[in-house]
Amino acid sequence: MTGGTNSELDLYVNHASYGPPTAAVAETVQRLLATAMRPGPTTSAELHGEHERARAAVARLTRVPVSRVALTTSTSQGLLQTAFGLGGEVLLSRDEFPANVYPWVRAEAAGRLRVRSLPGAGELLPVTPERVAAALTPAVTALAVSAVDFRTGYRADLAGLRAVLGPERLLVVDGIQGFGAIETDWSPVDALAVGGQKWLRAGWGTGFLAFSEQGLARVEPTLGSWAGAEDQARYDGTIHPLVAGAERHAVTNLSPFTSGALATALEELAAAGVADTAARIGSAAGTIADAIDAAGLTLLSPREPERRAGIVVAGYPAGAAPEAHARLAAAGVSSTLHGDSRIRFSPHVTTSPAALQRLAALLRG
Ligand SMILES: Cc1ncc(COP(=O)(O)O)c(C=O)c1O
Repeated sequence: MTGGTNSELDLYVNHASYGPPTAAVAETVQRLLATAMRPGPTTSAELHGEHERARAAVARLTRVPVSRVALTTSTSQGLLQTAFGLGGEVLLSRDEFPANVYPWVRAEAAGRLRVRSLPGAGELLPVTPERVAAALTPAVTALAVSAVDFRTGYRADLAGLRAVLGPERLLVVDGIQGFGAIETDWSPVDALAVGGQKWLRAGWGTGFLAFSEQGLARVEPTLGSWAGAEDQARYDGTIHPLVAGAERHAVTNLSPFTSGALATALEELAAAGVADTAARIGSAAGTIADAIDAAGLTLLSPREPERRAGIVVAGYPAGAAPEAHARLAAAGVSSTLHGDSRIRFSPHVTTSPAALQRLAALLRG
C-alpha cells in the first residue's frame, strides 16, 4: 500500500484516523533526537524545556492559563485521569469512542463513581442539550462527551450543554476530533482532553488536558504521581504535596520529542490561524458532503453549518460499504470503513480542489 504523496492529488482524507505529522514536526523531532544523542551537562534540562513550550502553546489556543494546562500522552490518558478524579454520577453516551467510555467504567469498577448511560445508544444519535436535559437527575455530577462525534462528525453544542448542566456540574470533553479542525469557544468545558495525532498533526504520544478553574479544583489528582509533586528531586522518602496547578496530574516526565512535536504543531496552527484552518477544513468537508449527495448516497453527517466539523460520513445500503471502501482504496483514497454501511472521510487543509473533484468522481463511479 502506498502512502500519501503530498501532490495535488493527495487522496488522504483520513485525518480523523490520524493526521500525517507536518514537515516542521518531523524537523523538530529530528533536531531533538540529534541533541539527545550528543549529551552534555545541560542537555536533559534543555530537552525538557520543550514541555513548557508545549504548555504555553496549549494555553494560547485554548485560552486557558498555563497553570491549568497539563501535558498527556493521549486523549485516553487525560480522560482516565479525569475519570479517576471524579465522584457522583457521570452521564455518558455508550456511543462515545471507547476512549471516553472505558475510563468511566473502570473508575466505576474501582468504586469511585457511578456511570449513568444516556438512553438511545446505537442509533447514531448526537448528544444534544435536549437529550442531556431529559436524562439529568440531581445525582449527576458531570457529563462526558466528545466535541465532535467520531461516527458522524456532529459538533456538540458546548454552550448549550453547559446551559442545561448548570454551573455546578462538570462538562468533560474528549476534544480530539475537534481541536484543530473547528473554531469554537472552549470556555464552557471543565476538563478538555485532546490528543495531537489527528487534526493537529503532531504525531502519536502527544496530548494535553486543560481545565477550567472549577475543573482544576474539582478533579482530584488521584493518579498524580511523583512528577506532579513539589520538590520532585528531593529524595527524602516522604510523600510530597502535589503542585497547585494542572501538572498535579502528571505521572512522569514526558518525552521531550513528543512535547516538542506538540509545541511545533500548535505553533503552526496558531500561525496559520484557527479560524482560517477550520474554514478550509469545513469547506473541503462541505464539498465531500455535496459529492455524497450527488452520488445518491446518504449523508450521515449534519448539514447545519454550526453542527458540522471535519468529518463527513457516507451511508451505504447494508453490506455495500466494504466493497465501496476497497474500490476507493484501490484508487488511492484513504478513508475509514465503519461497519458494513458507513465510510468516513476527513479532509484537511492539504486536501486540494483537484483531489476533492477526483473523490467526487470516484464516489459517483
Ligand atoms: C473521539 C475519540 N476519542 C479518542 C480517540 C483515541 O484517542 P487517543 O489515542 O489519543 O487516546 C479517538 C480515536 O482514536 C477518537 O475518535
